[in-house]
Amino acid sequence: MARTNIQTLIKKKAENKKITALTAYDYPTATIVDEAGIDVVLVGDSLGVVVQGLENTLPVSMKDMLYHTRIVARAVKNAMVIGDMPFLSYQTGVGNAVRNAGRFLQAGAQAVKIEGGGNILPVIRELVNFDIPVMAHIGITPQSIHRYGGFRVQGRDEATAQKLMDEARQVEDAGAFSLILEGIPTGLGKRITESINIPTIGIGAGKYCDGQILVIQDLLGLFDRFVPKFVKRYANLKQESVSAIQAYIREVEEGAFPGDEQSYS
Ligand code: KIV
Repeated sequence: MARTNIQTLIKKKAENKKITALTAYDYPTATIVDEAGIDVVLVGDSLGVVVQGLENTLPVSMKDMLYHTRIVARAVKNAMVIGDMPFLSYQTGVGNAVRNAGRFLQAGAQAVKIEGGGNILPVIRELVNFDIPVMAHIGITPQSIHRYGGFRVQGRDEATAQKLMDEARQVEDAGAFSLILEGIPTGLGKRITESINIPTIGIGAGKYCDGQILVIQDLLGLFDRFVPKFVKRYANLKQESVSAIQAYIREVEEGAFPGDEQSYS
């Protein structure tokens, strides 16, 4: 099976086939996600919240992201691996952005993701100019948390909806190969998806996007500090893990583990 790449995703949109994407940050999870047959694995800066236990993604560093990207790239054989550029790695000038994005490719990613619309067009153009594929990300952009004072659905009124429509076209024109739409009404997700040629990947953007992405800890029920409305839990691994660990504690305390099968004669 050929590895998923930009052309695969563009073809899927053209053929009306949905694109599947998930985040992963470590070797076992990335292996599982890849073996399950996902199209795209995003090493998201959401790892700051769901792996590092931070309040938001702002403190996540290039060092953190490259560390996790290397690990995930080592595990994934079929999916496309995308590295998420952290806060201040691309906002400080196009030269810095090219250098940092290039380090993601050296770490094994096939593309990078950056948050923003009109404000990051020069960065997208320059990265694409140097053959670094870019996935853009508009709507709720977690690195802008202090501009919004929290995470609020974007594009509910016609003026902001129009602004997002314009930004979607602009990032496409600048050369982005795909666009994440986060936290926008279903109708707007549909309008944007129908108005651009590059695939849209939604998270809280409704069912008409060309694909969907979720944070793996949310899907598996491993993170419960907050659960956004757009999350669907397909398993409750936190509860299952607690039960398994409690069984282990009980058996050790009762002397039932290790048994003969786990012991050397
Ligand atoms: O950081 C991340 O994981 C993301 C996705 C949720 C789109 O940006």
